[in-house]
Amino acid sequence: MDLSEIMISKEEIASMVTRVAGEINKDYKDEELVVIGILTGAFVFTADLVRELDMPVIIDFMQVKSYQGTTSTGTLTIKRDISTDIKDKHVLIVEDIIDTGNTLKALKELLLSRGPKSLKICTAFDKPSRRVNDLTPDYNGITVPDEFIVGYGLDFDGAYRNLKEVRIVR
Ligand code: IMP
Ligand code: MG
Repeated sequence: MDLSEIMISKEEIASMVTRVAGEINKDYKDEELVVIGILTGAFVFTADLVRELDMPVIIDFMQVKSYQGTTSTGTLTIKRDISTDIKDKHVLIVEDIIDTGNTLKALKELLLSRGPKSLKICTAFDKPSRRVNDLTPDYNGITVPDEFIVGYGLDFDGAYRNLKEVRIVR
């Protein structure tokens, strides 16, 4: 197993974060926002994104699992739930990457059942060619081709999350 050359540079990632945060700031203005980062992959993106947000922000994390190696199992297990009550709150889910969309579709249904005032999805990366449902992010950082990528929080069996840039696993 090998890593490719840099696919997405740290400069491209930084400007993506600024752009996405700008869209979110414009949409929510001064409304309080509950940001739910999806562990483990979204910890890096969540940390960068929230520091660019202007409204009052509550940050929580949730850990779900639908992946083994490089194939989606399609089943969602909650490994860690949020401790924030999201009823009547504006909620933004922050994800590292959307692949089949199975994880977020199930998670969205679950969080909607708790009665938030609104619920939107923000992802650092999107692989729309792999989608098996109608899930679309409200905020998308960078659209990527059908390759397994690592870095900027994304892992291959736990490794490479700390890379500053994104590379392809071969
Ligand atoms: P989905 O349920 O198929 O959309 O899978 C989403 C989850 O799979 C993400 O949160 C990642 O943890 C993982 N994943 C999907 N594609 C990749 C990839 O290219 N690299 C690393 N993790 C990935
Ligand atoms: Mg993962």
